[in-house]
Amino acid sequence: MKKRLLTGLQSSGDLHIGNYFGALKPFVDMYEEYESFLMVADYHALTSVRDPEVLRQNIRNVVRDYLAVGVDPKQAVIFRQSDNQDHMELGWIFNCMVTVPFLMQAHAYKDKVAKGIEPNAGLFTYPMLQAADIALYDTDVVPVGEDQRQHLEYTREAIRKVNLAYNNEHLLKEPETVIIDGVGVVPGTDGTKMSKSYKNTVPLFGTREDIQKAVMSIVTDSSGERPEHVYAIHKLFKSEAELVPLYEEHKGKYKALKDALAEDIDASLSPMRERRAAITDADVDAVLADGLMRAKAVSTPVLNRVRDAIGINLS
Ligand code: TRP
Repeated sequence: MKKRLLTGLQSSGDLHIGNYFGALKPFVDMYEEYESFLMVADYHALTSVRDPEVLRQNIRNVVRDYLAVGVDPKQAVIFRQSDNQDHMELGWIFNCMVTVPFLMQAHAYKDKVAKGIEPNAGLFTYPMLQAADIALYDTDVVPVGEDQRQHLEYTREAIRKVNLAYNNEHLLKEPETVIIDGVGVVPGTDGTKMSKSYKNTVPLFGTREDIQKAVMSIVTDSSGERPEHVYAIHKLFKSEAELVPLYEEHKGKYKALKDALAEDIDASLSPMRERRAAITDADVDAVLADGLMRAKAVSTPVLNRVRDAIGINLS
């Protein structure tokens, strides 16, 4: 029997190759070893998105992104949190099991408050909806980025609290956190960590021209030595054995090296870009409808187990 995996997806806008090598690719490389559930965390997104059109776009786009990078919807169960009402219900139950001071310790919440954002109550109870997402599937492993480490600790602790309150250590399953860190830091066009907020990205699904433009903007110096920032990105796409002779041959010719890099990036990304472009809204909706049925088949019995334990089911 395969272990069960669940992770939640939130759209972070247009993806770049840092997202790909840092998170999506490592996920694609591992998910088939597990019985995998990929959930679109759309009700979590509602804690910060107020524009209905943006929310709608984000929901479909995040599914498209994962399909385009190679997740097979027959293997993984891809579904939406909002489609499966079991999440809201178990989320409420978790809210009733933890204290306000416990939730006040959450970094994500404290950071928002510190930034002067007026926190809505959904933001405050966010970790308990996440705990529900995970606990509903008797999840064994939860692969997430480093930023989610504390949220996962909240999940584990909340599960322990529920099990303790009802004196049953098997009521809910405590998952393991797997931190995805891919290739480590992916360098941006200025040599620092690639990040949307630094504006130093190479787009993952951009056109050939978008890629060329990003590559031409890579910062080089005029020392005539190897242009390190160009090389650092090139290494993600070609082996050093292939790159060393190329950089030797074009020593000091930054334009030629950048052209070669743009060419290599385009050649490796264009299949994903084309796959993504071919995915229609109807395709996404069909994947989500199928995912919902498969998700429900697992979550509803788990929720019922909890409803029995807490006294909500009458018999
Ligand atoms: N909070 C996660 C994020 O911002 C998304 C998420 C929601 C999640 N539910 C989850 C991740 C359950 C893992 C498991 O990325």
